[in-house]
Amino acid sequence: MRKSVHIKSYGCQMNVYDASRMEDVLSPMGYDAADAMEGADLVILNTCHIREKAAEKVYSELGRLRREKAARKGTDRPMRIAVGGCVAQAEGEEILKRAPFVDLVFGPQTYHRLPLMLRQLESRGRAVVDTEFPADDKFDQLPPAGELDGASAFLTVQEGCDKFCTFCVVPYTRGAEFSRPVDPVLREARLLTGKGAREITLLGQNVNAYHGAHPEGGEWTLGRLIRALAEIDGLERIRYTTSYPAEVDEDLIAAHRDVPELMPFLHLPVQSGSDKVLKAMNRRHTAGGYKDVVARLRAAQPDLALSSDFIVGFPGETDRDFEDTMALVRDVGFVQAYSFKYSPRPGTPAADMGGQIPEDVKSARLHELQDELNRQQIAFNETCVGREMPVLFDRPGGREGQLVGRSPFMQAVHAELSAGYLGEIVNVMIDRAKPNSLSAVVSSKQEAVA
Ligand code: SAH
Ligand code: F3S
Repeated sequence: MRKSVHIKSYGCQMNVYDASRMEDVLSPMGYDAADAMEGADLVILNTCHIREKAAEKVYSELGRLRREKAARKGTDRPMRIAVGGCVAQAEGEEILKRAPFVDLVFGPQTYHRLPLMLRQLESRGRAVVDTEFPADDKFDQLPPAGELDGASAFLTVQEGCDKFCTFCVVPYTRGAEFSRPVDPVLREARLLTGKGAREITLLGQNVNAYHGAHPEGGEWTLGRLIRALAEIDGLERIRYTTSYPAEVDEDLIAAHRDVPELMPFLHLPVQSGSDKVLKAMNRRHTAGGYKDVVARLRAAQPDLALSSDFIVGFPGETDRDFEDTMALVRDVGFVQAYSFKYSPRPGTPAADMGGQIPEDVKSARLHELQDELNRQQIAFNETCVGREMPVLFDRPGGREGQLVGRSPFMQAVHAELSAGYLGEIVNVMIDRAKPNSLSAVVSSKQEAVA
Protein backbone atom coordinates (compact mmCIF):
# COMPACT_ATOMS: atom_id res chain seq x y z
CA MET A 1 0.00 0.00 0.00
CA ARG A 2 1.30 3.49 -0.90
CA LYS A 3 1.91 5.94 1.92
CA SER A 4 1.94 9.72 1.90
CA VAL A 5 4.59 12.26 2.83
CA HIS A 6 4.05 15.97 3.32
CA ILE A 7 7.15 18.17 3.33
CA LYS A 8 6.91 21.73 4.62
CA SER A 9 9.89 23.85 3.64
CA TYR A 10 10.98 27.05 5.34
CA GLY A 11 13.56 29.61 4.25
CA CYS A 12 15.64 29.54 1.10
CA GLN A 13 15.14 28.11 -2.37
CA MET A 14 17.69 25.42 -1.70
CA ASN A 15 15.28 24.00 0.86
CA VAL A 16 12.63 23.89 -1.87
CA TYR A 17 15.05 21.97 -4.08
CA ASP A 18 16.02 19.63 -1.22
CA ALA A 19 12.34 18.92 -0.51
CA SER A 20 11.74 17.81 -4.07
CA ARG A 21 14.80 15.56 -3.89
CA MET A 22 13.51 14.08 -0.61
CA GLU A 23 10.32 13.18 -2.48
CA ASP A 24 12.45 11.50 -5.15
CA VAL A 25 14.27 9.48 -2.47
CA LEU A 26 11.07 8.43 -0.73
CA SER A 27 9.06 7.52 -3.81
CA PRO A 28 10.71 4.08 -4.34
CA MET A 29 9.93 3.36 -0.66
CA GLY A 30 6.23 3.74 -1.42
CA TYR A 31 5.68 7.36 -0.42
CA ASP A 32 3.61 9.74 -2.59
CA ALA A 33 3.80 13.47 -2.02
CA ALA A 34 0.71 14.89 -0.27
CA ASP A 35 -0.40 18.52 -0.41
CA ALA A 36 -1.90 18.51 3.07
CA MET A 37 -0.15 17.89 6.35
CA GLU A 38 -3.33 16.48 7.91
CA GLY A 39 -3.56 12.75 7.39
CA ALA A 40 -0.04 12.32 6.00
CA ASP A 41 1.85 9.21 7.15
CA LEU A 42 5.10 11.11 7.29
CA VAL A 43 5.48 14.86 7.88
CA ILE A 44 8.87 16.43 7.30
CA LEU A 45 9.60 19.95 8.47
CA ASN A 46 12.46 21.16 6.28
CA THR A 47 13.68 23.93 8.52
CA CYS A 48 15.56 27.25 8.37
CA HIS A 49 17.98 28.50 11.04
CA ILE A 50 18.97 31.83 9.49
CA ARG A 51 17.15 34.10 11.96
CA GLU A 52 15.70 33.41 15.38
CA LYS A 53 12.11 33.84 14.20
CA ALA A 54 12.58 31.32 11.40
CA ALA A 55 13.95 28.73 13.82
CA GLU A 56 11.19 29.26 16.41
CA LYS A 57 8.46 28.63 13.81
CA VAL A 58 9.50 24.99 13.82
CA TYR A 59 8.64 24.50 17.45
CA SER A 60 5.21 26.03 17.13
CA GLU A 61 4.49 23.79 14.13
CA LEU A 62 5.75 20.79 16.13
CA GLY A 63 3.30 21.65 18.90
CA ARG A 64 0.41 21.34 16.46
CA LEU A 65 1.77 18.12 14.97
CA ARG A 66 2.10 16.54 18.41
CA ARG A 67 -1.67 16.70 18.89
CA GLU A 68 -2.37 15.05 15.55
CA LYS A 69 0.20 12.36 16.19
CA ALA A 70 -1.34 11.60 19.61
CA ALA A 71 -4.82 11.38 18.09
CA ARG A 72 -3.64 8.85 15.53
CA LYS A 73 -1.67 6.71 17.97
CA GLY A 74 -2.81 3.08 17.95
CA THR A 75 -4.79 3.50 14.68
CA ASP A 76 -3.72 1.77 11.48
CA ARG A 77 -2.44 5.14 10.20
CA PRO A 78 0.16 6.21 12.76
CA MET A 79 2.04 9.41 12.03
CA ARG A 80 5.78 9.89 11.77
CA ILE A 81 7.34 13.30 12.32
CA ALA A 82 10.73 14.28 10.92
CA VAL A 83 12.74 17.47 11.32
CA GLY A 84 15.24 18.13 8.53
CA GLY A 85 17.12 21.17 7.28
CA CYS A 86 19.31 23.67 9.10
CA VAL A 87 17.59 23.76 12.52
CA ALA A 88 18.04 19.99 12.65
CA GLN A 89 21.69 20.37 11.67
CA ALA A 90 22.31 23.05 14.30
CA GLU A 91 20.36 21.50 17.17
CA GLY A 92 20.59 17.74 16.53
CA GLU A 93 19.68 15.74 19.65
CA GLU A 94 18.45 18.94 21.37
CA ILE A 95 15.32 18.75 19.24
CA LEU A 96 14.40 15.46 20.90
CA LYS A 97 14.73 17.09 24.32
CA ARG A 98 12.30 19.86 23.43
CA ALA A 99 10.07 17.65 21.27
CA PRO A 100 10.47 13.98 22.29
CA PHE A 101 7.66 12.89 19.97
CA VAL A 102 9.86 13.61 16.90
CA ASP A 103 10.91 10.42 15.09
CA LEU A 104 13.70 11.54 12.76
CA VAL A 105 16.24 14.37 12.86
CA PHE A 106 18.47 14.83 9.83
CA GLY A 107 20.53 17.58 8.24
CA PRO A 108 20.82 19.02 4.73
CA GLN A 109 23.71 16.66 3.95
CA THR A 110 22.08 13.37 4.99
CA TYR A 111 18.60 13.33 3.45
CA HIS A 112 19.70 10.83 0.78
CA ARG A 113 19.80 8.35 3.69
CA LEU A 114 16.11 8.81 4.57
CA PRO A 115 15.21 5.23 3.53
CA LEU A 116 17.87 3.86 5.89
CA MET A 117 16.71 6.14 8.71
CA LEU A 118 13.10 5.05 8.27
CA ARG A 119 14.11 1.38 8.38
CA GLN A 120 16.17 2.01 11.53
CA LEU A 121 13.20 3.76 13.10
CA GLU A 122 10.96 0.76 12.44
CA SER A 123 13.48 -1.80 13.66
CA ARG A 124 14.65 0.05 16.76
CA GLY A 125 11.39 1.71 17.64
CA ARG A 126 13.10 4.89 18.81
CA ALA A 127 14.11 8.18 17.26
CA VAL A 128 16.96 8.32 14.74
CA VAL A 129 19.31 11.31 14.51
CA ASP A 130 21.66 11.71 11.52
CA THR A 131 23.34 15.10 11.27
CA GLU A 132 26.78 14.09 10.04
CA PHE A 133 28.55 15.67 7.12
CA PRO A 134 29.21 12.43 5.25
CA ALA A 135 32.28 12.29 3.04
CA ASP A 136 30.37 10.73 0.16
CA ASP A 137 28.70 13.01 -2.32
CA LYS A 138 25.00 13.23 -1.47
CA PHE A 139 24.21 14.03 -5.09
CA ASP A 140 25.75 10.73 -6.31
CA GLN A 141 23.37 8.83 -4.07
CA LEU A 142 20.18 10.61 -5.09
CA PRO A 143 17.89 9.08 -7.71
CA PRO A 144 17.22 11.10 -10.90
CA ALA A 145 14.82 14.01 -10.44
CA GLY A 146 11.16 12.96 -10.48
CA GLU A 147 8.10 14.96 -11.41
CA LEU A 148 8.35 18.70 -12.02
CA ASP A 149 6.22 21.26 -10.31
CA GLY A 150 5.69 23.66 -13.22
CA ALA A 151 7.94 24.91 -15.99
CA SER A 152 10.48 26.56 -13.74
CA ALA A 153 12.89 24.25 -11.91
CA PHE A 154 15.67 24.60 -9.37
CA LEU A 155 19.00 22.85 -9.77
CA THR A 156 21.58 22.89 -6.98
CA VAL A 157 25.09 23.19 -8.43
CA GLN A 158 27.00 24.38 -5.38
CA GLU A 159 26.47 24.01 -1.66
CA GLY A 160 27.93 25.33 1.53
CA CYS A 161 29.90 28.47 2.26
CA ASP A 162 33.45 29.25 3.41
CA LYS A 163 32.92 32.99 3.75
CA PHE A 164 31.99 33.05 7.43
CA CYS A 165 30.20 36.37 7.54
CA THR A 166 30.15 37.01 11.27
CA PHE A 167 26.33 37.06 11.49
CA CYS A 168 25.62 33.93 9.48
CA VAL A 169 24.92 30.30 10.43
CA VAL A 170 25.14 28.89 6.90
CA PRO A 171 28.81 27.80 7.02
CA TYR A 172 27.95 25.80 10.16
CA THR A 173 24.68 24.26 8.97
CA ARG A 174 25.42 23.65 5.28
CA GLY A 175 29.12 22.96 5.67
CA ALA A 176 32.12 23.76 3.47
CA GLU A 177 31.88 24.95 -0.12
CA PHE A 178 31.35 22.17 -2.60
CA SER A 179 30.72 22.28 -6.35
CA ARG A 180 29.00 19.45 -8.18
CA PRO A 181 30.96 18.20 -11.18
CA VAL A 182 29.90 19.50 -14.60
CA ASP A 183 28.61 16.21 -16.03
CA PRO A 184 25.89 15.36 -13.50
CA VAL A 185 24.77 19.00 -13.51
CA LEU A 186 24.33 18.98 -17.30
CA ARG A 187 22.61 15.59 -17.10
CA GLU A 188 20.16 16.87 -14.49
CA ALA A 189 19.49 20.00 -16.56
CA ARG A 190 18.71 17.88 -19.65
CA LEU A 191 16.46 15.64 -17.60
CA LEU A 192 14.56 18.63 -16.19
CA THR A 193 14.22 20.18 -19.63
CA GLY A 194 13.00 16.86 -21.03
CA LYS A 195 10.31 16.85 -18.36
CA GLY A 196 9.13 20.29 -19.43
CA ALA A 197 11.32 22.82 -17.60
CA ARG A 198 11.68 25.98 -19.70
CA GLU A 199 13.58 27.82 -16.99
CA ILE A 200 16.25 26.58 -14.60
CA THR A 201 17.52 28.49 -11.59
CA LEU A 202 20.98 27.33 -10.55
CA LEU A 203 21.26 27.27 -6.79
CA GLY A 204 24.13 27.61 -4.37
CA GLN A 205 24.72 29.42 -1.08
CA ASN A 206 27.59 30.97 -2.96
CA VAL A 207 26.71 30.01 -6.48
CA ASN A 208 29.23 32.18 -8.28
CA ALA A 209 32.02 30.42 -6.39
CA TYR A 210 31.10 27.42 -8.56
CA HIS A 211 34.14 25.54 -9.84
CA GLY A 212 32.90 22.15 -10.99
CA ALA A 213 35.25 19.44 -12.20
CA HIS A 214 35.09 18.70 -15.91
CA PRO A 215 35.67 15.07 -17.07
CA GLU A 216 38.33 16.21 -19.53
CA GLY A 217 40.25 17.85 -16.70
CA GLY A 218 40.17 21.31 -15.22
CA GLU A 219 37.25 23.13 -13.70
CA TRP A 220 34.40 25.17 -15.11
CA THR A 221 33.34 28.52 -13.72
CA LEU A 222 29.69 29.45 -13.37
CA GLY A 223 29.94 31.56 -16.54
CA ARG A 224 31.22 28.56 -18.51
CA LEU A 225 28.48 26.34 -17.09
CA ILE A 226 25.82 28.88 -18.08
CA ARG A 227 27.09 28.92 -21.66
CA ALA A 228 26.84 25.13 -21.86
CA LEU A 229 23.35 25.10 -20.34
CA ALA A 230 22.20 27.68 -22.86
CA GLU A 231 22.92 25.11 -25.60
CA ILE A 232 20.29 22.71 -24.27
CA ASP A 233 17.30 22.53 -26.60
CA GLY A 234 14.11 23.70 -24.92
CA LEU A 235 15.86 25.45 -22.05
CA GLU A 236 15.02 29.07 -22.63
CA ARG A 237 15.74 30.83 -19.37
CA ILE A 238 18.63 30.56 -16.95
CA ARG A 239 18.95 32.25 -13.57
CA TYR A 240 21.30 31.73 -10.63
CA THR A 241 21.22 32.60 -6.96
CA THR A 242 22.75 33.55 -4.50
CA SER A 243 25.94 35.34 -5.48
CA TYR A 244 28.76 36.85 -3.48
CA PRO A 245 29.83 40.29 -4.78
CA ALA A 246 33.57 39.77 -4.36
CA GLU A 247 33.43 36.65 -6.51
CA VAL A 248 31.71 38.00 -9.60
CA ASP A 249 34.34 37.30 -12.28
CA GLU A 250 34.83 38.43 -15.88
CA ASP A 251 33.48 35.13 -17.20
CA LEU A 252 30.16 35.65 -15.44
CA ILE A 253 29.97 39.30 -16.51
CA ALA A 254 30.62 38.22 -20.11
CA ALA A 255 27.85 35.62 -19.85
CA HIS A 256 25.45 38.45 -19.00
CA ARG A 257 26.56 40.18 -22.19
CA ASP A 258 26.59 37.16 -24.51
CA VAL A 259 23.99 34.64 -23.39
CA PRO A 260 20.42 35.69 -24.25
CA GLU A 261 19.01 32.84 -22.14
CA LEU A 262 20.59 34.35 -19.02
CA MET A 263 17.85 36.55 -17.58
CA PRO A 264 18.64 40.22 -16.90
CA PHE A 265 18.02 39.95 -13.18
CA LEU A 266 20.53 39.40 -10.41
CA HIS A 267 20.17 38.92 -6.68
CA LEU A 268 23.42 40.26 -5.26
CA PRO A 269 23.40 40.71 -1.47
CA VAL A 270 25.33 43.71 -0.16
CA GLN A 271 24.14 43.66 3.52
CA SER A 272 25.34 47.20 4.33
CA GLY A 273 26.62 50.37 2.69
CA SER A 274 29.09 51.14 5.48
CA ASP A 275 32.67 49.94 5.03
CA LYS A 276 33.11 49.80 8.79
CA VAL A 277 30.09 47.52 9.19
CA LEU A 278 31.04 45.42 6.15
CA LYS A 279 34.43 44.85 7.72
CA ALA A 280 32.90 43.83 11.06
CA MET A 281 30.64 41.49 9.11
CA ASN A 282 33.76 39.94 7.52
CA ARG A 283 32.39 40.73 4.09
CA ARG A 284 35.24 40.73 1.60
CA HIS A 285 33.99 43.76 -0.29
CA THR A 286 33.50 47.45 0.38
CA ALA A 287 30.55 49.60 -0.64
CA GLY A 288 32.68 51.00 -3.47
CA GLY A 289 33.70 47.48 -4.52
CA TYR A 290 30.04 46.50 -4.72
CA LYS A 291 29.17 49.54 -6.82
CA ASP A 292 32.09 48.77 -9.11
CA VAL A 293 30.86 45.19 -9.69
CA VAL A 294 27.39 46.53 -10.44
CA ALA A 295 28.82 49.06 -12.92
CA ARG A 296 30.73 46.31 -14.76
CA LEU A 297 27.64 44.09 -14.89
CA ARG A 298 25.52 46.95 -16.18
CA ALA A 299 28.10 47.80 -18.82
CA ALA A 300 27.76 44.20 -20.06
CA GLN A 301 23.96 44.05 -19.75
CA PRO A 302 22.36 47.51 -19.57
CA ASP A 303 18.91 46.03 -18.80
CA LEU A 304 20.16 44.26 -15.67
CA ALA A 305 17.72 44.60 -12.75
CA LEU A 306 19.18 44.17 -9.28
CA SER A 307 17.93 42.71 -6.05
CA SER A 308 19.77 42.51 -2.75
CA ASP A 309 19.78 41.54 0.93
CA PHE A 310 20.27 44.05 3.74
CA ILE A 311 20.83 43.73 7.46
CA VAL A 312 20.11 46.71 9.70
CA GLY A 313 21.20 47.03 13.31
CA PHE A 314 24.36 44.95 13.06
CA PRO A 315 26.41 45.40 16.28
CA GLY A 316 28.12 48.78 16.29
CA GLU A 317 26.03 50.24 13.45
CA THR A 318 25.68 53.99 14.02
CA ASP A 319 23.18 56.40 12.45
CA ARG A 320 25.99 57.45 10.15
CA ASP A 321 26.63 53.82 9.08
CA PHE A 322 22.95 53.37 8.40
CA GLU A 323 22.96 56.56 6.32
CA ASP A 324 25.72 54.99 4.22
CA THR A 325 23.38 52.06 3.54
CA MET A 326 20.61 54.44 2.51
CA ALA A 327 23.04 56.28 0.24
CA LEU A 328 24.10 53.03 -1.43
CA VAL A 329 20.48 52.08 -2.03
CA ARG A 330 19.73 55.44 -3.62
CA ASP A 331 22.89 55.24 -5.67
CA VAL A 332 22.56 51.69 -7.03
CA GLY A 333 18.78 51.34 -7.36
CA PHE A 334 17.09 47.98 -6.73
CA VAL A 335 13.97 46.51 -8.29
CA GLN A 336 13.28 44.38 -5.22
CA ALA A 337 15.10 43.43 -2.03
CA TYR A 338 15.00 41.55 1.23
CA SER A 339 15.87 43.44 4.38
CA PHE A 340 16.15 42.16 7.91
CA LYS A 341 16.85 43.29 11.44
CA TYR A 342 20.07 41.75 12.66
CA SER A 343 19.22 38.59 14.61
CA PRO A 344 21.97 37.25 16.88
CA ARG A 345 22.58 33.59 16.14
CA PRO A 346 24.17 31.36 18.82
CA GLY A 347 27.70 30.32 17.92
CA THR A 348 28.36 33.11 15.42
CA PRO A 349 30.98 35.80 16.24
CA ALA A 350 28.61 38.77 15.91
CA ALA A 351 26.31 37.40 18.61
CA ASP A 352 29.06 38.11 21.17
CA MET A 353 30.13 41.50 19.84
CA GLY A 354 29.72 44.67 21.88
CA GLY A 355 27.45 47.44 20.66
CA GLN A 356 24.31 45.35 20.14
CA ILE A 357 21.59 47.66 18.81
CA PRO A 358 18.30 48.13 20.69
CA GLU A 359 15.21 46.65 19.07
CA ASP A 360 13.45 50.00 18.58
CA VAL A 361 16.44 51.43 16.72
CA LYS A 362 16.55 48.34 14.49
CA SER A 363 12.84 48.69 13.78
CA ALA A 364 13.09 52.38 12.89
CA ARG A 365 16.01 51.75 10.52
CA LEU A 366 14.30 48.79 8.91
CA HIS A 367 11.22 50.90 8.35
CA GLU A 368 13.15 53.71 6.72
CA LEU A 369 15.11 51.31 4.52
CA GLN A 370 12.03 49.39 3.43
CA ASP A 371 10.23 52.62 2.56
CA GLU A 372 13.01 53.50 0.15
CA LEU A 373 13.26 49.96 -1.27
CA ASN A 374 9.49 49.81 -1.79
CA ARG A 375 9.56 53.19 -3.48
CA GLN A 376 12.24 51.93 -5.87
CA GLN A 377 10.33 48.73 -6.56
CA ILE A 378 7.12 50.61 -7.39
CA ALA A 379 9.03 53.08 -9.56
CA PHE A 380 10.58 50.21 -11.52
CA ASN A 381 7.24 48.43 -11.91
CA GLU A 382 5.74 51.64 -13.26
CA THR A 383 8.45 51.97 -15.90
CA CYS A 384 7.29 48.57 -17.20
CA VAL A 385 3.79 49.81 -18.09
CA GLY A 386 3.43 50.02 -21.86
CA ARG A 387 6.35 47.65 -22.45
CA GLU A 388 6.02 44.32 -24.18
CA MET A 389 7.86 41.48 -22.51
CA PRO A 390 8.07 37.69 -22.60
CA VAL A 391 6.50 36.06 -19.56
CA LEU A 392 6.83 32.42 -18.54
CA PHE A 393 3.38 31.46 -17.25
CA ASP A 394 3.85 28.74 -14.68
CA ARG A 395 0.85 28.77 -12.33
CA PRO A 396 -2.89 29.39 -12.30
CA GLY A 397 -4.02 32.81 -11.09
CA GLY A 398 -6.50 33.58 -8.33
CA ARG A 399 -9.38 33.85 -10.79
CA GLU A 400 -10.74 31.46 -13.41
CA GLY A 401 -9.13 32.08 -16.80
CA GLN A 402 -6.12 33.81 -15.29
CA LEU A 403 -2.48 32.70 -15.24
CA VAL A 404 0.51 34.07 -13.34
CA GLY A 405 4.06 34.06 -14.58
CA ARG A 406 7.42 35.77 -14.26
CA SER A 407 8.83 38.60 -16.31
CA PRO A 408 12.52 38.50 -17.25
CA PHE A 409 13.03 40.75 -14.18
CA MET A 410 11.32 38.28 -11.78
CA GLN A 411 8.15 40.34 -11.39
CA ALA A 412 4.93 38.35 -11.00
CA VAL A 413 2.70 39.06 -14.03
CA HIS A 414 -1.05 38.32 -14.15
CA ALA A 415 -2.84 37.87 -17.47
CA GLU A 416 -6.16 36.55 -18.77
CA LEU A 417 -5.00 33.36 -20.44
CA SER A 418 -6.39 29.85 -20.67
CA ALA A 419 -4.72 26.97 -18.86
CA GLY A 420 -3.40 25.79 -22.23
CA TYR A 421 -0.69 28.43 -21.91
CA LEU A 422 0.68 26.97 -18.67
CA GLY A 423 4.40 26.37 -19.15
CA GLU A 424 4.56 28.70 -22.16
CA ILE A 425 6.52 31.88 -22.69
CA VAL A 426 4.13 34.45 -24.11
CA ASN A 427 4.75 38.01 -25.25
CA VAL A 428 2.49 40.30 -23.25
CA MET A 429 1.90 44.02 -22.97
CA ILE A 430 2.15 45.31 -19.40
CA ASP A 431 -0.88 47.49 -18.73
CA ARG A 432 -0.85 48.00 -14.98
CA ALA A 433 1.72 48.11 -12.19
CA LYS A 434 1.02 47.21 -8.59
CA PRO A 435 3.54 47.37 -5.75
CA ASN A 436 4.28 43.62 -5.92
CA SER A 437 3.12 42.55 -9.36
CA LEU A 438 2.16 43.58 -12.88
CA SER A 439 -0.88 42.85 -14.97
CA ALA A 440 -0.75 42.36 -18.70
CA VAL A 441 -2.78 41.86 -21.83
CA VAL A 442 -1.70 39.30 -24.35
CA SER A 443 -0.16 40.99 -27.33
CA SER A 444 0.84 38.10 -29.57
CA LYS A 445 -0.69 34.95 -28.19
CA GLN A 446 0.52 32.45 -30.72
CA GLU A 447 4.06 33.59 -30.61
CA ALA A 448 5.93 31.84 -27.83
CA VAL A 449 9.29 33.51 -27.72
CA ALA A 450 12.53 32.56 -26.12
N1 SAH B 1 24.42 33.37 0.25
C1 SAH B 1 23.32 32.94 1.02
C2 SAH B 1 22.79 33.98 1.93
C3 SAH B 1 22.30 33.31 3.09
S1 SAH B 1 21.27 34.03 4.17
C4 SAH B 1 22.22 32.26 0.26
O1 SAH B 1 22.25 31.08 0.05
O2 SAH B 1 21.23 32.88 -0.11
C5 SAH B 1 20.17 35.09 3.33
C6 SAH B 1 20.20 36.45 3.93
O3 SAH B 1 19.75 36.41 5.27
C7 SAH B 1 21.59 37.07 4.02
O4 SAH B 1 22.02 37.62 2.81
C8 SAH B 1 21.40 38.09 5.10
O5 SAH B 1 20.96 39.32 4.58
C9 SAH B 1 20.30 37.50 5.97
N2 SAH B 1 20.84 37.02 7.24
C10 SAH B 1 21.72 36.03 7.44
N3 SAH B 1 22.01 35.92 8.76
C11 SAH B 1 21.29 36.86 9.40
C12 SAH B 1 21.16 37.26 10.75
N4 SAH B 1 21.86 36.66 11.72
N5 SAH B 1 20.30 38.28 11.03
C13 SAH B 1 19.61 38.91 10.07
N6 SAH B 1 19.70 38.58 8.78
C14 SAH B 1 20.54 37.56 8.43
FE1 F3S C 1 26.21 33.45 4.95
FE2 F3S C 1 28.01 35.17 4.17
FE3 F3S C 1 28.11 32.70 3.26
S1 F3S C 1 25.81 35.53 4.33
S2 F3S C 1 25.99 32.05 3.26
S3 F3S C 1 28.42 33.32 5.36
S4 F3S C 1 28.50 34.57 2.11
